[in-house]
Parts: sequence; structure tokens; C-alpha cells
Amino acid sequence: MIFITGGAGFIGSNFILDYLSAHNEHVLNIDKLTYAGNPFNLSSLDNDARYHFVQADIADRETIAALFAQHRPRAILHFAAESHVDRSIHSPGEFIHTNVNGSFTLLEVARHYWCDLPPVEKESFRFLHVSTDEVYGTLGPSDPPFSETTPYAPNSPYSASKAASDHLVRAYHHTYGLPTLTTNCSNNYGPYHFPEKLIPLVILNALDGKPLPIYGDGRQIRDWLFVSDHCTAIREVLARGTPGETYNIGGWNEKTNLEVVHTLCDILDRLKPKTAGSYRDQIAFVQDRPGHDRRYAIDARKLERELGWKPAETFESGIAKTVRWYLDNPQWVLNVRSGGYLKWLELQYGRKENT
Ligand code: NAD
Ligand code: TYD
Repeated sequence: MIFITGGAGFIGSNFILDYLSAHNEHVLNIDKLTYAGNPFNLSSLDNDARYHFVQADIADRETIAALFAQHRPRAILHFAAESHVDRSIHSPGEFIHTNVNGSFTLLEVARHYWCDLPPVEKESFRFLHVSTDEVYGTLGPSDPPFSETTPYAPNSPYSASKAASDHLVRAYHHTYGLPTLTTNCSNNYGPYHFPEKLIPLVILNALDGKPLPIYGDGRQIRDWLFVSDHCTAIREVLARGTPGETYNIGGWNEKTNLEVVHTLCDILDRLKPKTAGSYRDQIAFVQDRPGHDRRYAIDARKLERELGWKPAETFESGIAKTVRWYLDNPQWVLNVRSGGYLKWLELQYGRKENT
């Protein structure tokens, strides 16, 4: 069995669906089900005996230790996090709780579990920590992209809390020998993306006739990666990555926010034309995010060189699939936005454990 934390979130649920389509192994999803956790994402696995779910906080040491003792995983893939920069500006406390204390708790429990494993299992155990390019801070227009040796310089409470967790993971490898792997990925997009983030927010606001909010001048740059490419990279790192190493993951797709929003509007103009005008007419420039990082870009050559990974999607193919997915899944959108999925949660997951 492998453990996944945060498997009901955007990337975690894509990862579980992707993993179970290719591997015949049991997966235990440990998720607190915060506002960002949506078990609907995984409803296609309702009758799949390989999928197990436990609602728990990763900072709850007793529960996490009991799960390790009961299920004896061969690996843990740690996706759980508070992940939205804007929320971290309004209420950083939750970010410290989950991203720092939660990651620390997982490391402590994993370390004690790993220490007592028989030699062969000890050798093959992995703690894979899923992190972000935001730990590296911000780039100037002509700076080279972030590599694995770029010094950390986080600028938001979110990225600072992720940086703290990366440092703890590093220390647990160097101090205790825990076989850790860390991935630092650029901005993801794709199916099941919670509509507080730029791409799903813009698609859904456009369809609702609402303003498309662009922070500041909209010339900030992000390096976008289709979520299934991130999942493939994580699978490669889990299978063949070297313990103690970090791997940057990115799509070589630097775009300004304005370019992204224009692209989304143009696709929607083709797929779902308005009666008059273009979706671009809904663009509204709003007050900038405090401390807004200007540019992120990832140098993913180490992953390509050492593990042969390359993204399968271009930005054009991935963004077209993403828009199509939101148009084809109105029920998912309705549930997420109405809070209806919370009621479903109580119904389906009223019990704490459903393994
Ligand atoms: P998300 O916000 O969509 O999902 C986070 C999940 O973690 C949710 O299911 C939530 O319920 C769960 N969770 C939160 N706190 C928890 C706790 N204390 N205990 C147990 N579960 C808890 O996030 P995401 O976008 O899927 O990101 C997943 C991981 O990937 C994060 O670690 C994030 O930092 C990293 N990452 C994200 C991106 C991106 O573009 N979204 C890019 C690079 C790295
Ligand atoms: P976001 O999706 O929140 O990801 P991150 O902050 O982790 O990169 O934002 C992506 C970019 O889009 C970022 O530069 C902030 C900008 N943005 C807007 O301009 N308007 C919005 O309403 C949102 C949510 C983001």
C-alpha cells in the first residue's frame, strides 16, 4: 500500500486517479477535507477495492501513527497543504499548522516507522514530499529559471511555510537517513482545480458573465504545467528518484497572466460564444496582491536528464482540455460552488473512517 496525504485536493485526486489507472496497488488517502478537499473528485473509485479513505488531520500524530502501524505502507506521498497564496495573506495560521506542523508530524511518524522496518523494506521505503517553485521567490525578466540549487527566498506566508517543510524534509534525510524525495513544481492547471485559483476562476466567472479579475498590470509570469504531467513526474520520481534529492518539475510554459486570461477568453469565444462581444470584455484590472511575485520559471532539465521525464501536453493542448472539462462537468462546478458537496460529505463520510 501507498499513503497519499491531501488526496481529495486538486493534484492529489488527479494523482490517485492516474495512479490507480496504471498500478495495481492499494492507496490510502488521508485527508482532513478542508474547503479544498472534495471526495466527489474520486467518486469513480467508490467501488474500487484498492482505494481507501480516512478523514484525518496530518498534524494528529496519534491517528497518523496508528495508520502506519495498521497499514504498513511502502511509501508516503505528501500532497496535503494549505495551498492558496491569497488565503495565506489573510490567515497564515492554518498554513503553519498544516504545512509546517503537519509535515513535521508526518516526518516524525515516518521516521519511527521506518527505523523499525526490516532491512529490505527499510531500503525501499520512500517519503515523497510534494512542494512548489514558489519557495525560490521571484525572478527578474532575464534571470535564468529556478534550478535545484537556486537559493530559497520565499515571499508569501504560503511559500515560507512550504520552504520550512522542504527544509525539514532535507534535515530528516541528512540527520536520520530517512529516504526522502522532494519535488518542486510550477503552477498546475487542469480538471478538479478549485475555482479560487486563476484559471478555473476565470473560466467560471466568464461563463457567469462576471468580471475576470486581473491583479495589478497582469504582466506577472507563471510557468504552467498540465496536472497529469505533474502526476507522471511524481510517479517517475517515486519509482527511480535518488533518496535525498530534489527534482524541479515544470512545463517550459512561461505566460503572463494576461496571456493566460486572453487564451481562456478566446477558447470560450469559440466553444461557447456570447450573444454579443467577447469574453475579453469582462476583464477587470483590480488591486494587486501584496508582495506579488513577478515571475516564476522552472528549469526541469535534471528530471529530464536523470529520469527521462518530459511533459506530454503543450500549454495550448492542456488549456483546451481544461476549458472543455469545466464545460463538460457542470455538476462538479455546482457542487463545489454551492457547498453542496459538504452536505454530500456528511452523508457519505459521516463515519470517520471508510476503509
Ligand atoms: P489543494 O488545496 O487543492 O488540496 C489540498 C488538500 O489537502 C485538500 O484535499 C485538503 O483537504 C487537504 N488538507 C489540507 N490541510 C490538511 C491537513 N491538515 N490534514 C490533512 N489534509 C489536509 O492543493 P493542490 O493544489 O492539490 O496542491 C497539492 C500539493 O501540491 C501542495 O502541497 C502544494 O503546495 C503543491 N503544489 C501545488 C501547485 C499548484 O499549482 N496547485 C504547484 C506546485 C506544488
Ligand atoms: P494563483 O492561481 O493564485 O496561483 P499562484 O499565486 O500560486 O501563482 O495565481 C496565479 C497568478 O494569477 C498569480 O500571479 C496571481 C494572479 N491572479 C490574478 O491576477 N487574479 C486572480 O483573481 C487570481 C486568483 C490570481
